[in-house]
Amino acid sequence: MDLRLAYRTAESLLAGIPLRWAHSRQVLEQARVLAPILGTDADLVAVAAVLHDVGYAASVVDTGQHMIDGARYLSRVGLDPMVCSLVAYHSSSEWEAAELGLTAELAEFRRPQAELLEAITYCDLTSSPNGTVVDPVSRLDEVLRRYGTEHVVHRAVSAARPALLTMADHVAKRLAEVGSP
Ligand SMILES: [Fe+2]
Repeated sequence: MDLRLAYRTAESLLAGIPLRWAHSRQVLEQARVLAPILGTDADLVAVAAVLHDVGYAASVVDTGQHMIDGARYLSRVGLDPMVCSLVAYHSSSEWEAAELGLTAELAEFRRPQAELLEAITYCDLTSSPNGTVVDPVSRLDEVLRRYGTEHVVHRAVSAARPALLTMADHVAKRLAEVGSP
């Protein structure tokens, strides 16, 4: 699937949840910013970026873990396995899957190469829920405030926070090395 079709697919799946769509468009913008450090993987990450939250679409929900549900849907419609893997593992997915007892379901997908997983996670962590650029610390603080302390997402993101900030930091350093902000 090329980027134009991926964009239209995400736009149509997320039509009922406009904020998720606004967020997803910003995640795609961030993927474009990373192009100088992604080389030949830039298109792959851009496609995964715009599609990363399709698991929230009502027609796509299956287990309730949106990263796995999105990846399963994209696999069914024939997306590149690497795109499915990036969607499956983005951001706090591994921690959420552990909390929900869905580690085996997540393992249906191969864990992506570290640089690419860091890239899509950076794009998600630097895009606010309503589609503006944000720093990763504020973004994670907002997620923790949005979900109560007993919520699975709160527990997963609390546990994942140091690792996620390290991932975002790696990407920021790689961008700085090539002279991008
Ligand atoms: Fe996201």
